[in-house]
Amino acid sequence: MQFNLAVLPGDGVGPEVTSEAVKVLLAIGKRFGHDFNLHYGLVGGVAIDKTRVALSPETLKMCQSSDAVLLGAVGGPKWDAPKAKVHPEDGLLALRKGLGLFANLRPVKVSPVLTDSTNLKPAVIEGVDFIFVRELTGGLYFARPKRQWRTSRGRRATDSMTYSEQEIERIVRVGFELARGRLKKLVSVDKANVLQSSRLWRQVAIEVAEEYPNVELEHMLVDACAMRLIQNPAYFDVLVTENMFGDILTDEASMLAGSMGMLPSASLAGVPREGGNIFGMYEPIHGSAPRRAGLNMANPLAIILSVAMMLRYSFGLIKEAQMVESAIDEVLKEGYRTYDIMGEGKTKVGTKEMGDLVAKKIAG
Ligand code: IPM
Ligand code: MG
Repeated sequence: MQFNLAVLPGDGVGPEVTSEAVKVLLAIGKRFGHDFNLHYGLVGGVAIDKTRVALSPETLKMCQSSDAVLLGAVGGPKWDAPKAKVHPEDGLLALRKGLGLFANLRPVKVSPVLTDSTNLKPAVIEGVDFIFVRELTGGLYFARPKRQWRTSRGRRATDSMTYSEQEIERIVRVGFELARGRLKKLVSVDKANVLQSSRLWRQVAIEVAEEYPNVELEHMLVDACAMRLIQNPAYFDVLVTENMFGDILTDEASMLAGSMGMLPSASLAGVPREGGNIFGMYEPIHGSAPRRAGLNMANPLAIILSVAMMLRYSFGLIKEAQMVESAIDEVLKEGYRTYDIMGEGKTKVGTKEMGDLVAKKIAG
């Protein structure tokens, strides 16, 4: 089969890890007889340097006419001045909005071979395997009004947590659909004891639940959820939440897996189905890690796992996705580790070596 893929390596360690993901994708293509046509573009700081915007209209168009987008990372101290007119992160937000990527999937699964590399007691993280569904194109990130202004009594600023019932319905539905194919337990996270937007969220979740009688719906307040994630993370199966809560909770959850370097993500324009062909953007959860850039240090497994998600949700290639995941498992079992997941008696490798090891397993 033929697929068009937009590749946006971005900033910091982005280009290094993206190369390894492409290497693995091409190995899959070779082994299974697929053609992946790669179209490279600029986003983030590198785009600001070259075009003065974090995402050019041409790059957005190129992404829109592809089957999926693979993104490395954006951002870095060079572009961080708070008063700067344009930030690398604007490119990421423009992609999410411009491509209609309302559903952000962040699976957190602790590999049994890595339980010794987290800060939590192994007994607590044993068996952790859940998936976060974060709303990605609404709430505080995008809703209006959103501005800063001067008054006679000083400066003021506002962001708005506004949600329409349609926005809530479609994201909650993603949660139910995923839960249906898993342990049938959906936790909807809100702050309904205080926020109006959360009260509507809760009502809509209850309405959608009627269509899914086999899935158990539980409402959890966001602060209680933050606590439960550390206290008993194995409790969770699927969680669904609004944009900002999801941003914060998924960083917290990533620490369960030991390193952000292990966690993939998918941002989708529709309801995911294994073997389906939903348009999506795939990226590692970790950022651009500027201090590690250019050192062949960064762990490429998060973006390689993101490629597996891409094969599964956007290209409909389940066997191929499984092959990527089992290649990673084997390489880890053999004791190879990047610096972030290094443990006693293991073999330390760099970004490139890790990518080579995975690609070689796929080549067979
Ligand atoms: C994330 C990141 C982004 C976000 C930033 C880089 C804008 O933290 O993907 O979680 O806040 O959504
Ligand atoms: Mg974040």
